[in-house]
Amino acid sequence: MAASTGGPGQCVVWFGDPLPQERDALAAAGWQLRAIAPGNGTGGIGLRAGDTVVGMLDLRDGDEATAEAAVELASEYRHLPFLAIVPRQLADAAAVERLLAHCQRHFVQAPPPGSLVGAVTGLARSPASDSPHGLDALVGQSPAMLRTVAAIRKFAPIDLPTLVTGETGTGKEVAARALHDLSRRAGKAFAPLNCGAIPDNLVQSELFGHERGAFTGATARRIGLFETADGGTVFLDEIGDLPLDAQTSLLRVLQEGTIERVGSHQPIKVDVRVIAATHVDLEQAIEDGRFRADLYYRLNVLRLRMPRLADRGEDIVLLAQHFLDRFREHHHATRARGFSSNARRAMLAFDWPGNVRELLNRVQRAAVVAESELIGAADLELADTAAAPNGRGLDRARVDAERDTLLGCLRDSGYNVSQAARRLGVSRVTVYRLCRKHQLRIEQLRRTGTHR
Ligand SMILES: Nc1ncnc2c1ncn2[C@@H]1O[C@H](COP(=O)(O)OP(=O)(O)OP(=O)(O)O)[C@@H](O)[C@H]1O
Ligand SMILES: [Mg+2]
Repeated sequence: MAASTGGPGQCVVWFGDPLPQERDALAAAGWQLRAIAPGNGTGGIGLRAGDTVVGMLDLRDGDEATAEAAVELASEYRHLPFLAIVPRQLADAAAVERLLAHCQRHFVQAPPPGSLVGAVTGLARSPASDSPHGLDALVGQSPAMLRTVAAIRKFAPIDLPTLVTGETGTGKEVAARALHDLSRRAGKAFAPLNCGAIPDNLVQSELFGHERGAFTGATARRIGLFETADGGTVFLDEIGDLPLDAQTSLLRVLQEGTIERVGSHQPIKVDVRVIAATHVDLEQAIEDGRFRADLYYRLNVLRLRMPRLADRGEDIVLLAQHFLDRFREHHHATRARGFSSNARRAMLAFDWPGNVRELLNRVQRAAVVAESELIGAADLELADTAAAPNGRGLDRARVDAERDTLLGCLRDSGYNVSQAARRLGVSRVTVYRLCRKHQLRIEQLRRTGTHR
């Protein structure tokens, strides 16, 4: 975060009561603060045109009524360009700093008050730090991922069918949820269905419901997915597996906004957004006569392409550390805290056919079997590429050596930047620059000793 200057500033409008250390952290990071508590009125907020403004909704110590009051207040400011929520579990300044950093990725127009209340009271009830919301669930900073995030942000508020494509395990479902979370439908249902996992003869009934006696065994009326998700989003995973008769019915939903329960010809109006995902080539399926071209054109209005993990560069390491940190939260006996240079190198060199899901599985297994604080390539069951004879291997080795030296020096000097700079014989600015280059965050190192 840049320090405040005489030009356009950055300002946090905080709906609630920030702690003293949070006020300090914000000031130190160059953010101006306007705190607005329910009951205190909102007059004289005094925002300057051109300022970057973040709305922060603080729900830490309120009961549901207080939370609603804060939401109500915040909804008057829904023109704010960003909206972040401080859930109950986040109480320290570093967590708030992380949240602010995340705001750079949000750029969300706050949803209308009704669904905002729904979304926020839902968050306040559950420990939100355990269930990342919207774009927070999508870890990654690579250019490929930033393009995807930008597309999600653009597509979310547009109430049109969306097709998410990408190889297995690339995060298609996570992206679909983010689209829903950032849409006006956020307070309503997100209803996923894997079209490949249901027997063909039951798909129609699952999606659209059936009347009593519609077929043998239909002993009672059943409401289908589209009716139960009314107002929300239906996520149709593996849409390529949808049988042809169900494709015809789905086309009707998209064209006319109505369904018919199996065994009835009474059209019922439904209001749902359809997000579909596929890892097969639908164009090929059309050519083979397995998929209706007209349905494809309807679904393919907005197209979100999820990148392969191998094309996401340093995200691989970022995700690996993220999964390890999450694992450690639930398994306190885990010794592993980070990844060795050879593990990072091996992860960057690997092709990841199972993409993010494969990385998650390998990291969890490695966290269990690793015997030291740093997970090695062997723990991940990846080949150690240290001996790679080509130039790229050498470059990598040099970068890794630099990182290891820096990290060791920081550790030896108790994460004191001035001391580390003296030991290395460089300026403090250089230490900060190197930390940025190697994605080492001193605050975090100081707190946990985790290598990030
Ligand atoms: N960018 C990401 N950040 C954090 N976790 C992610 C990310 N992308 C995917 N994941 C995790 O990876 C796993 C696979 O993601 P998801 O189920 O969304 O993939 P998919 O593309 O739908 O896979 P499939 O084609 O097999 O259905 C999940 O556990 C998900 O939480
Ligand atoms: Mg999936």
